Amino acid sequence: MKIARMDAALGAEVGGVDLARTDALDAGALRRAWLDRGVLLFRGQAMTPGGLARFSGLFGPLEPPPASEAGTREELGGQPVWYISNVVEDGKPIGSLGSGEAEWHTDMSYLPEPPTASVLFARETPAEGGDTGFADMEAAWETLDGTLRAAVAGRAIHHDGSTTSVGETRRGHEAVGDARAAPGAVHPAVRTHPETGRRSLYLGRRRNAHVVGLPLDESEALLDRLWEHCRDPAFAWTHAWRAGDVVMWDNRRVIHRRDPFDPASRRVMLRAQVRGDRPF
Ligand code: SIN
Repeated sequence: MKIARMDAALGAEVGGVDLARTDALDAGALRRAWLDRGVLLFRGQAMTPGGLARFSGLFGPLEPPPASEAGTREELGGQPVWYISNVVEDGKPIGSLGSGEAEWHTDMSYLPEPPTASVLFARETPAEGGDTGFADMEAAWETLDGTLRAAVAGRAIHHDGSTTSVGETRRGHEAVGDARAAPGAVHPAVRTHPETGRRSLYLGRRRNAHVVGLPLDESEALLDRLWEHCRDPAFAWTHAWRAGDVVMWDNRRVIHRRDPFDPASRRVMLRAQVRGDRPF
């Protein structure tokens, strides 16, 4: 196994490993690299739904597909994995998020116990677009100026569960008019990583977020300033996908976003998520 750091605040490419054959010993080394770099890339993998579930399961019990996900397919064989895709078959999307831009977010931070790891396997990729950016929220916290640090330290944020990162209302929810009334969970705005002890900004996503205890206008102004800081390219690394890539990221430390792509092309990704615990 060869681990090469990306020339960025986060990320490493791991070579010389076949994820379909990875065992607990390899998983120990991968876990250390993942905790160190936040995002790991593996090229040239051949993953079945069962193989992705088995590999991801080496890092903890998996989350079942969220009830709000579009299209649970028979070919997934009941595995706890699902599609992120723009493909429509028999008039029904096979997966979530379509072909539009997905804004910066943490996966499922609207749950009381958001996933620790997200694992994404690229089965089919478009010729252009659909790149995924990752940004390190530990670096964002470390470089935050004193005024913003004082404004956010000790605060909690309400994370909205009604709307996806591409702006669609999730199944079973209604569009939210007032962020304070959004369904979701409340988490500390600055969290401590349970395995490394490092602190990071934990904002979830911008849309419908609310800083608990602040009037709406003050909360909006503070969130805008925090997000402006988090979007600094200095914290980020962007991945241009090839079919066969697997990317695994630490959802406690890293936010991500996706570029839009041509809706007439096919992008088919398989996703697994490792169950998490309550942020503190
Ligand atoms: C996501 O935003 O969770 C999916 C990322 C992607 O489609 O690349």
